Amino acid sequence: MNILAISGSLRASSTNSALLRAAAELAPNNVSVTLYNDLDDLPHFSPERDKENTSEAVNRLRALLQAANAVLICTPEYIHGMPGVLKNMLDWLASSGEFVEKPAGVISASPSDMGGSRAHAALSYTLSVLTANLPEGASLIVPFVRTRIDAGGHVTDPVLIDELRGVIRALVKAIELRN
Ligand SMILES: Cc1cc2nc3c(=O)[nH]c(=O)nc-3n(C[C@H](O)[C@H](O)[C@H](O)COP(=O)(O)O)c2cc1C
Repeated sequence: MNILAISGSLRASSTNSALLRAAAELAPNNVSVTLYNDLDDLPHFSPERDKENTSEAVNRLRALLQAANAVLICTPEYIHGMPGVLKNMLDWLASSGEFVEKPAGVISASPSDMGGSRAHAALSYTLSVLTANLPEGASLIVPFVRTRIDAGGHVTDPVLIDELRGVIRALVKAIELRN
C-alpha cells in the first residue's frame, strides 16, 4: 500500500512535515508513506493550463496521486484557513479528479490551543467537495504542537504517537474496504 503524504507548509523545519515523517515511521511494513516534496513547484492555478499546456509539476502531482492508494495531508492554519499553496494544489485536482473516492486523512497542527481547527474544517470541506473518502479515524487536530515534538522534529508525546498510528490504521482500513 502506498500513501502519499502532503504537508501544507513549505518551511524546511515545518512541524506539520515533521508529523508526516513521524507517521511514515509508524506505518506498518506493508505500507509505504512517501512525502510529496514539490508543492513549491506548482504554478498558480489557471483554467487555461488545466487541460492543455499543463506544467510538468502538475502532471507529476496528478500521476503521484493516481498511483497512491490513499493521501495524508497535514497542514498548518494560516489566517484561520488552509495555506494558499494547499488550496492552489487542490484547485489543480478539481477537474482531473484524483481525489474522487480516494481515502484521505486530514491532520492540522498548530502551536495554539485550537490546533488549526479552522484549517482542518476548511480542508475537510474542500476534500468532501472533491468527493474524497474521509474516514472518521483518519482525522486529527494537534494543538500545542511545539511542545509535543523535539528540536529534531521527533514526536515526544506518546499520546500523539498513538493518534498518528490510529490515523494510519484508519487509512489502511479504508484502502482495504475499497479493494
Ligand atoms: C501567515 C501566517 C498566518 C498564521 N495564522 C495562524 C492561524 O490562523 N492560526 C494558528 O493557529 N496559527 C497561525 N499561524 C501560526 C502557525 O500555526 C505556525 O507558524 C506553525 O508552526 C506553522 O506550521 P509549520 O511549523 O508546519 O510551518 C500563522 C502563521 C503564519 C506565517
